[in-house]
Amino acid sequence: MPTTIDLEGLGLESGGQILLDRALAGLAPGDRLVVGGRHPALRLHLAAWCRAEGHRLDPDTDPPTVVRGSADLDRWRDARRAGRTASDVVAHADPEWGLAARGALVEPGGPALAVDWVDRDLVWADVAPRLYAQATANQWDPATAVDWTAAGPVSADVEDAVVQVMTYLVENEQAALMIPARLLSRLHPHYREVMQLLASQAADEARHVEIFTRRALLHRDVLGRSGAGGRASLQTLLEEPDFTLASFLLSVLGEGSFLDLLHFLHRHAPDRVTADVTRLAARDEARHVAFGVAHTAHVVRSDPAFLHRLRAAVERRHTALADTAGLNRQVFEALVVLAAGSWAPTAIERGWREVLRLQETMDSGRRRRLEYLGFPADEAAALSALHTRNFM
Ligand SMILES: [Fe+2]
Ligand SMILES: [Fe+2]
Repeated sequence: MPTTIDLEGLGLESGGQILLDRALAGLAPGDRLVVGGRHPALRLHLAAWCRAEGHRLDPDTDPPTVVRGSADLDRWRDARRAGRTASDVVAHADPEWGLAARGALVEPGGPALAVDWVDRDLVWADVAPRLYAQATANQWDPATAVDWTAAGPVSADVEDAVVQVMTYLVENEQAALMIPARLLSRLHPHYREVMQLLASQAADEARHVEIFTRRALLHRDVLGRSGAGGRASLQTLLEEPDFTLASFLLSVLGEGSFLDLLHFLHRHAPDRVTADVTRLAARDEARHVAFGVAHTAHVVRSDPAFLHRLRAAVERRHTALADTAGLNRQVFEALVVLAAGSWAPTAIERGWREVLRLQETMDSGRRRRLEYLGFPADEAAALSALHTRNFM
């Protein structure tokens, strides 16, 4: 008994082929499908459609009868799923899956993706999906999250210091924007939560560039200085080719220290706007650090020997920067002035002590994170001491 379908007045050019496909999907090659319908060109269009789709139209029947071919089945015969389900994050993502969604049935023969990172354990952290959800929920609008009219009167000397620090922050934020953008473009999209998280991280940094620029220009037309040593330090981050080493140097050591700097600036902010922009940036940075730490720990757990590569990366960077000035002197002094609040000698002495304390806080934070990753305490201390004087 052949299967039948009634297209009624529907033509093949206006959706009839969808019904045919659906009816044929349940049939085996060689099975017959009787096609009823009133459309005047039905037989003519069926003949053309069958030729195009690899089926055969029986010339002798009325109503017309389609004999199912196998071309469409052949096309998908070797198709494989990109992971069993949408939530199945596999250990090795096939570049041949290309841009197919995780869990999709992938027709063979499409272009392969030119990506570098296709292994889960080289890019993953179990916390990535949760951090991405948090990042999405915590996006803020620089136009409304900061009350830009709240800039109180700041003395000219202190304002100079603010402008210098903001100039430095923008430079660092620009590096922090480019690095995740570069990493995510070379990552297999199968690891999409990591890709999404890096995308939101880049968006966070774009906002940080904006708010720090805006604070710098609140009362001035001209920005501060950019030292060659600071830029050399950031350049070594941009040039780190390995995903985990880049994440480790940028987020675990760099952004971790930067977070302490933002807290310091928030505490010593001479006005509401400075306090707000540093608080908002710090909230985002904490997430960036959390991913860097979780990801690096993930890699070390699956390969404890990776600790050697982390150590070598810190040493390599230290050597590369040995002949540079590290932190721009103007930035260091601006931090002292901000913590001092004035140029009175006793205030400067206090500010100086505060900046030394900041550096100790940064150091103990780095040591804590390095120990968490698996370094013994003495080695963590030695590596922390080799960290760039530019903070990031
Ligand atoms: Fe940032
Ligand atoms: Fe960041």
